[in-house]
Amino acid sequence: MPIIGNLHQLKEKKPQQAFTRWAEDYGPIYSIKTGASTAVVLNSTEVAKEAMVEKFSSISTRKLAKAVSILSRDKKMVAGSDSGEFHRNGKRHIMKSLLGSSALKQYRASRDTMIDDMVSTFHKMVSDDPKTPLNFREVFTSGLFGLSVAQALGEDVSSIYVEEFGRVLSRDEIYEAVVHDFMWCVLEVDWRDFFPYLSWVPNESFETKVLTTEARRTAVMRALINRQKERIARGEARLSYLDYLLAENAELTEEQLIMLIWEVVLEAADTTLVATEWAMYEVAKNPEKQDRLYQEIREVCGNETVTEEHLPRLPYLNAVFQETLRRHAPVPILPPRFVHENTSLAGYDVPAGTEVIINVYACHMNEKDWDEPDEWEPARFLDGGRFRSAETNKTIPFGGGRRICAGMMQATNIGCTSIARFVQEFAWRLKEGDEDKVDTVHVTAYKLDPLCAYLTPRARGTE
Ligand code: HEM
Repeated sequence: MPIIGNLHQLKEKKPQQAFTRWAEDYGPIYSIKTGASTAVVLNSTEVAKEAMVEKFSSISTRKLAKAVSILSRDKKMVAGSDSGEFHRNGKRHIMKSLLGSSALKQYRASRDTMIDDMVSTFHKMVSDDPKTPLNFREVFTSGLFGLSVAQALGEDVSSIYVEEFGRVLSRDEIYEAVVHDFMWCVLEVDWRDFFPYLSWVPNESFETKVLTTEARRTAVMRALINRQKERIARGEARLSYLDYLLAENAELTEEQLIMLIWEVVLEAADTTLVATEWAMYEVAKNPEKQDRLYQEIREVCGNETVTEEHLPRLPYLNAVFQETLRRHAPVPILPPRFVHENTSLAGYDVPAGTEVIINVYACHMNEKDWDEPDEWEPARFLDGGRFRSAETNKTIPFGGGRRICAGMMQATNIGCTSIARFVQEFAWRLKEGDEDKVDTVHVTAYKLDPLCAYLTPRARGTE
């Protein structure tokens, strides 16, 4: 297998793009030196699936960068854990109580309320100030964070007293400590990751930043959980992951509880926003495609408000969402895996100790699988007006195999229903000059420039 370059020569914070360029010269699988060790980079869906599914038994541990290792308290979150008992139990709890199909039904009302509230906020903003483009991200982030916290803890929060800080934190500060700061922090590269034999050398600025973020996150989560424990002690049970965990696992330590609850808040509050913001950006940028979506909604829903029940009858809407996950994959590089026994990939020997990097971005931008991959073209997922679900097998936005995303159904329900409601209620137009603002930031592919758009309310039943 070709060995090319050194990871520590890679200065940019979006390695997926450099890996994709290298794949054009060296093919879908190559290896790179990552300081003292070697990583294999996979750039096609076929070989990625070989690693995630067929060779899972040899590639089932995680390799975490130093920052993530500290923030996950050494793999104490489901997504960052090695496959084994902790992962199996953790994922079972999440699916049973939050994200599996029967649990999802229980949280249906909270999802509907969240979307209704966002639509009302948009209406109010437009009527207060129709001439200024509104910032989509501010509204969606706040709504989604509220849902994530309510699902995890039993109620949304407006503020919390945190003993370690000696003061009350606002909702925005809670969001920062629990979600936002983590996203910035995992971007920090500690060069000692690439040279483990130099790990005794101090790297103070890195350590201070990561440890401070970790301590703030833990203090805020502890305060949030303690407040809910008081509620539960008063006998006020609610539908939440915390209520479920405390009832099922009386023996969980405080640290375990903090990590499990924090994980679902983080995961539910982040990637769904990334996907939905990109979808609404493309919808606002492409008036003809927006019109096609609106006409489909009118034909199927008439004057009724779109609900999750309508989703299977809205093929173009599903195509819009899937095409967004392809073109703007929210997780462009999967959390790295680690080969723990000798194996092979695409016919090449891969020894134990190798890191495996799955480049989702390259899999989705591959010219062999997709015509004009740079174009956002939902119709590629349609066949004579019907949704081609087989096409989604060529994409891996949620990973695959036993580590496939636990929140896939929730994200799809929220993403599709929100997009449909937003287009049913308003005509969307991008702010002037924003047509080429497609740059990303973070490990999840956040839009660098938040979506700002003009919204014109549509008159239901008269257009
Ligand atoms: C569009 C939205 C989302 C995308 C694109 C996404 C993507 C991903 C990806 C790529 C992985 C890693 C899979 C792998 O390594 O093979 C993952 C794992 C995971 N995601 Fe999501 N995710 C989304 C929404 C959510 C939501 C809403 C939740 C809810 C809490 C969630 C919870 C999880 C969990 C618990 C895991 C770990 C699964 C495991 O290790 O077995 N995700 N997600």
